[in-house]
Order: sequence, then C-alpha cells, then structure tokens
Amino acid sequence: MKTITSIRELQSTLQSEKLKGKTIGFVPTMGYLHEGHLSLLQKARTENDIVVLSIFVNPLQFGPNEDFDSYPRDYQHDENLAKDNSVDFIFYPTKEEMYPNELTASVVVHKRINVLCGRKREGHFDGVATVVTKLFNIVMPHRAYFGMKDAQQVAVIEGLIKDLNMPITIVPCETVRENDGLAKSSRNVYLSEKERDEAPTIYQSLQMAKSEILEGETSPLTIIHSITEHITKFTSGTIDYVEIYSYPELKLIEKLRGRIVVAVAVKFSKARLIDNITLTIPE
Ligand code: PAF
Repeated sequence: MKTITSIRELQSTLQSEKLKGKTIGFVPTMGYLHEGHLSLLQKARTENDIVVLSIFVNPLQFGPNEDFDSYPRDYQHDENLAKDNSVDFIFYPTKEEMYPNELTASVVVHKRINVLCGRKREGHFDGVATVVTKLFNIVMPHRAYFGMKDAQQVAVIEGLIKDLNMPITIVPCETVRENDGLAKSSRNVYLSEKERDEAPTIYQSLQMAKSEILEGETSPLTIIHSITEHITKFTSGTIDYVEIYSYPELKLIEKLRGRIVVAVAVKFSKARLIDNITLTIPE
C-alpha cells in the first residue's frame, strides 16, 4: 500500500495501471474510518484490480457554523485499517493541494438538494459535488462506492454523473449497523452514554414504518407521524426532520408507491444523526 499526497503523482501512477488494463475502484472518504467505510473498501476490493481510498476533509461542504475544525481526524488509525483491507493507494492531499487558489469554477447542484439534509445546509451539496468531481477527475475510477446512509448524497452524485456524462459507475452500498441497529457513523463518538443507549430508536422507528408500509399504509403523513411519535417518546434528541420522498428524484409524493426513501435526522447534544431506508412498493 502506498500513500500519495500529490495529485500529479496519483494521476500518473493510476494512468500507468490503467494502461496495463487494470480496473480502478474508488472509495472517497473524509477519514476517521469505521466499519461502514470498510464495507465499501471490501466491496471495491472484490470488484476491481486496484482500490484507491481518498481521505480529505473537504472544507467546501461545511457551513460556517458546522464542525469542520472538530471533525474527527486520525490518519494513523485510517492507514492501519486501509492496510488491513488491502487498499492499494491512499490519496491523502492537503487543503492546499486540493484548493491552491480561490476557485474559478465549481459545481452547482440544482435538484435533489432542497430537502432532507440539504435544506438547512446551504451550499453543502455544491461542496460535495465540486470535490467529488475533482476527485473523479484525479482518480478516473471505473467504479466509485458510496454508503446509502447518505441517501441524498448518493442521489445527488448519481444525478451529477448522469448530467455531466462522467464514465463512472456509482455503486451504492447498504448502511452498516451496530448490533443494536444504530447506523455506523464517525459522529457516533460525540454521543453521551445515555444518548448512545437511545440512538437505536431511530432505526427501530424506520423498521416500524417499513412494517406499516408493507402492511398497506399508503399515507406519507401517517408514517411520518408514527416515526415522530416513537422518536419523541424514546429519546432525548430533537427531531430535525422526518421526511418521505420518491427516490432518487427526492420529490414529494402523495401516496406511497414506487421507490421511496424514508429519512430521519435527530439532534442530540453534540451529534446530529441521520438514517434512512429505501423501499420499493409495487404500484
Ligand atoms: O461522504 C463523505 O465522506 C463526503 O461527503 C465525500 C463524498 C467524501 C466528499 O467529501
């Protein structure tokens, strides 16, 4: 495994691998790897000759009052996990390497953003789309792996790839969970002991919603109401949103049918947790 910090070096290294006919699987991350990331690396490993992991906390996708400075970072821990998971190259650029000058051009996302996490995080998905475009241009992978815990991010990136004709296959991967159902996240470390005990309620409420929908409930409002009630009753967190949309278009629907996403965000004292399920309901 080799760590590369220079864009030019990574480009020329991967270019020569491609000339040898090797396929490249790419897992972009902001580091502080957990089992969710490892499952992406493992899937990339089984489907490609070369696996590239990027670790870059992208300042462009954090708002002024968000946790860019305190976002957890631990390169040594990440490097050890990458080695254990047979990564070939870690791309670990500095901020200066990625953004040497004020940007002349960037990516603006028009759709799928004014809902869920995008609604309150103005510019967040422009920042994600810009860095992902840069990373894709640097790595030029055949396949890129993203976790469905960030279902909105996957929907935005799928739109980006399609609209800008990027020749990359996006591979959405299932959310990895703790034994009690809590979705793995770098932000779980911010939960107090009490909050950590309460946090699995979020997934329980999504599972309850799934059962209600599969038993025939067709009203998004009824499902939203029952999720809200359950989380309010069993956690000390504050609900940020409980929303249901068509997926991946992220459009409001009056009746539950087709492919949908049921998504939740809950604020605890120092952590905001998100989770979702996607379902396909026969017409
Ligand atoms: O999901 C993340 O970790 C980030 O949003 C990504 C895709 C690496 C872009 O910075």
